Amino acid sequence: MCLNSDNVDLSLGPDKQNGDVHLCLKELLPETNPDASTTNIAAPTKFAINVIQERIKERRHQNGTKSTANGKVEKRTKMAFLDLLLELHDQDDNFTLDDVREEVDTFMFEGHDTTSASLTWILFMIGCHPHVQEKIHQELDDVFGDDRDRKVTSEDIQKLLYLGCVIKETLRLYPSVPLIGRQLEEDAILSGHRVPKGTLLIVAIFWLGRDPDYFPDADEFNPDNFLPENVEGRDPFAFVPFSAGPRNCIGQKFALMEEKVVLAYLLRKLKFRSLKAMDEVTPTGELILRPYDGLEMEVSLRP
Ligand code: HEM
Repeated sequence: MCLNSDNVDLSLGPDKQNGDVHLCLKELLPETNPDASTTNIAAPTKFAINVIQERIKERRHQNGTKSTANGKVEKRTKMAFLDLLLELHDQDDNFTLDDVREEVDTFMFEGHDTTSASLTWILFMIGCHPHVQEKIHQELDDVFGDDRDRKVTSEDIQKLLYLGCVIKETLRLYPSVPLIGRQLEEDAILSGHRVPKGTLLIVAIFWLGRDPDYFPDADEFNPDNFLPENVEGRDPFAFVPFSAGPRNCIGQKFALMEEKVVLAYLLRKLKFRSLKAMDEVTPTGELILRPYDGLEMEVSLRP
């Protein structure tokens, strides 16, 4: 796939030379191509292109500045990730709009399914464990008082410690990414066996989190597993829902914050009850871990 801002000759459809489908972002911008149409592009790609187009337009308008709450215009100091990419594209011809779109795709799609699956499992766990839900409601009331509408701040996020334990405990039992693969670049010795270079290894994150050597009553849902006193001394590789090492998840801190924010909005107002017990729901790994037959939840307003 090529998406080069300089090459306006690219169009949707089989490439003349190699049969690849080519796509040029500049071609798709209405101001550079009045016939621009995105109707034949896959929906997720179209979505990413729309996001980039919108941001390019806004940046042209703002010219590196931002408006503050009191209407003043200030030079931007911190930049959002997409702005950084567009800035890099402006400065370096080799970093094409195609490269920008690939990065946007990675962030949007690596970060979307994983967090939505994780939130689904969390609401299921909360719905199966009313005493845990009560503790979360209590924590939210301590932090927000009776204000069930105000925006969640970064200070609030830091205070929601028990909610953090619930998120992690759910990721232990139901990791959004249940398996990862690695190909050995050199021979390795694993548990006394020589495994040759080139072997594809599968790391079963799902089973790692259920190892009773590290988590007593490993199949039970117990957010206290992540209280600081219980984490202390535990092997850091016993809990790796975001993988580990050089290619681990770059969005993990963001994901944990995002989930706290979403849950703080939902659980300030709502109460969840699962109509299925844990042993009635079969997790299935379709790249992302999902409930095989779906979940059945009852949602009501908190008094
Ligand atoms: C609960 C939410 C999430 C979980 C469980 C999760 C899990 C993972 C895992 C296990 C990997 C490593 C895959 C491997 O080692 O082969 C990974 C990679 C990655 N994740 Fe996440 N992720 C989550 C949220 C996010 C978010 C919100 C973003 C971005 C905003 C993100 C961006 C990425 C990217 C870009 C990679 C690839 C890193 C690389 O290859 O160097 N993830 N994620």
